[in-house]
Amino acid sequence: MSQVTVARISEIPVNSSRVVHVRGRDIAIFNVDGQWFAIDDLCPHMGASLSGGFVEDGCVTCPWHYWRFRLTDGAWADNPKVRIGSYPVTIHGDSVLLTVPESWDTPG
Ligand code: FES
Repeated sequence: MSQVTVARISEIPVNSSRVVHVRGRDIAIFNVDGQWFAIDDLCPHMGASLSGGFVEDGCVTCPWHYWRFRLTDGAWADNPKVRIGSYPVTIHGDSVLLTVPESWDTPG
């Protein structure tokens, strides 16, 4: 795993989200009441951006057809066997850091 700085804290205020681009991937970062989460931005149903979804009870609801994904682990709330990527977020000073797999270092 390796850590990548993806934003400053001030760029993602409390109860907002933002898409960041990390080594060719779009990742949705959420700041929920000061707790930070990161999941793949791409909804596996038809490709909507999950960063634009509504957040409630630890899940984000896809804005297109309302599939819900847990922010903690990327599991689809209706069928947790289906899961999108989720990534640890660390705050260091003013920086938001994402922990991503080492395999992302290698150009695909
Ligand atoms: S694109 Fe997300 S639920 Fe359809």
